[in-house]
Amino acid sequence: MKKVLITRKFPEQFVAPLQEVAEVVQWHEEHSAMPREQLLQQVADVDAIWGTLEDQIDEELLAHAPKLKMVANLAVGYNNLHIEALRDRGIMATNTPNVLTNATADLAFGLLIATARRLVEGADYLRAGQWQGWSPMQLTGMEVSGATLGIIGMGRIGSAVARRARGFDMQVLYHNRNRKYEDEEMYGFRYRDLDALLQESDFVMVLTPYTAETHHLISARELALMKETAIFINVSRGGTVDEAALYDALKNGDIWAAGLDVFEQEPVPVEHPLLTLPNVVALPHIASASVKARHEMFKTNVEALLTFLDDDKPKNRLT
Ligand code: DGY
Repeated sequence: MKKVLITRKFPEQFVAPLQEVAEVVQWHEEHSAMPREQLLQQVADVDAIWGTLEDQIDEELLAHAPKLKMVANLAVGYNNLHIEALRDRGIMATNTPNVLTNATADLAFGLLIATARRLVEGADYLRAGQWQGWSPMQLTGMEVSGATLGIIGMGRIGSAVARRARGFDMQVLYHNRNRKYEDEEMYGFRYRDLDALLQESDFVMVLTPYTAETHHLISARELALMKETAIFINVSRGGTVDEAALYDALKNGDIWAAGLDVFEQEPVPVEHPLLTLPNVVALPHIASASVKARHEMFKTNVEALLTFLDDDKPKNRLT
């Protein structure tokens, strides 16, 4: 019987089918991942790992896992996996594309509106007893309808966000490695080089995968190109943005506000400078956190693991 290590406490109904055909070792705490030290010990004799973006599957871990043949990652993003090292060792890795596209696009668009219209600030203001009466310019924000949205990273999720933006009569600009001619023709989305996108957009949203090339893609130079009224939204990975430069731009009024679902360090420390700014809406990496999407993500991983346990090649392979 093959052995599967599960680094988190996942819902029982998704773990049960694996227990029928494999020896399963699972971390037991609800709100934390298996600590690194323990993980390094536990991988010694496992054939497969089912983990999340919090588990770094790197050279160090692989050196501890001589039998490992399969990693199922509960995310579409896979910057936590050392793809080349996995490939070199003939270890398969799979992720969870498609099933979280709508949930992530909904959240991204919701965060855009929340940031533009100061929803969190307004709710806090009311609860703090500061609402003394209606006044004409109180808590006024930026209009979403009719504005220009610039999307950096036009993959499945970028395209889903762009389609939502059409319902708000927004103009959509995008920047991507490849042109999306079909989307351009069908929906009127327009390609821009990065600098032009930054200069023309009222909203700049980053949705690229996090790689060595996209590390600090948005830094001081890029922020300086944006409009003073621009709103920056990040739903990719925190590392795509230089947070110190973003803090300066927001503090100095070089851009107007930011909505962030991701941070370089997660959980972001509550004393992080960005969290001291009223024009930042911060969320705890919940873009794909709808019940439906999470259940589909579990199912996608389980199917891949069962296929592997059945000595076959799973879908959604990254290696
Ligand atoms: C992903 O899928 O990459 C998200 O960031 C986690 O669900």
